[in-house]
Amino acid sequence: MPEASAVNKMFAGIAGRYDLANHLLSGGLDFYWRRKLAREVSRCRPKVVVDLATGSGDVVFSIAKTLKNPAAITGLDFCPPMLEKAVEKKRHLEKTKKWASRLEQVNFIQGDCLNLPFSDGQVDVLTIAFGLRNLEDRARGLREMRRVLRKPGGVLLVLEFSQPATLLRPFYFFYLRYLLPVIARLATGQPEAYHYLGETIGKFPPRETLTAEIRAAGFDKVDSVGLSCSIVALHQAEVL
Ligand SMILES: C[S@@+](CC[C@H](N)C(=O)[O-])C[C@H]1O[C@@H](n2cnc3c(N)ncnc32)[C@H](O)[C@@H]1O
Repeated sequence: MPEASAVNKMFAGIAGRYDLANHLLSGGLDFYWRRKLAREVSRCRPKVVVDLATGSGDVVFSIAKTLKNPAAITGLDFCPPMLEKAVEKKRHLEKTKKWASRLEQVNFIQGDCLNLPFSDGQVDVLTIAFGLRNLEDRARGLREMRRVLRKPGGVLLVLEFSQPATLLRPFYFFYLRYLLPVIARLATGQPEAYHYLGETIGKFPPRETLTAEIRAAGFDKVDSVGLSCSIVALHQAEVL
């Protein structure tokens, strides 16, 4: 698994262009994936939501826009330049969006997913999008997530790359290996970061394995659904 300090440094290096690269590399699908995640959060009617590895905050904003009930939403990340982007975007949204009042209970904090700054059972819903793959110790991260979730009834939602449908695989891996670094170089000037992306996606476990890992961390009712031919998967788990 990747070393935390290297991951932190890498994201600091691409923070300025992270959003643009995301939208280009996913062909805009990332908007749809985050919306799906936000709708699941909304179904839980939470009062306290924490988005881990929040990066530039897009999951937090999508949740704030989607939630039907008022809730405190915190985005946590260990990389200051990514958090600066999130705060900058929040300020911009507050000035430009009709739903800006929903941002009143949104805040961003620096913290480590492997050592969460929350007490046991404090959180109703935890989300983590494209972050689990970057943790230095995934099992420890999952146990820590379980610790801070409300018992019973706390929900974990993980959005992460997965292994796509068999027919798609040759084209997908060709894309990851040869096209993605070129597009990434044009968008960010940092192709190494996106070599890392391709490599970690290729090595990331399929849905069934991740389901087993989530269960092993003590979660119940673990389920998942593939999105966009299983390029990504949305995992859901509950604490009973
Ligand atoms: C690929 S980005 C995902 C950002 C965002 N969730 C999204 O959907 O665009 C991964 C983020 O995980 C953060 N990260 C990785 N390991 C972390 C850790 N141990 N604690 C906190 N943040 C971490 C990185 O700083 C980076 O911002």
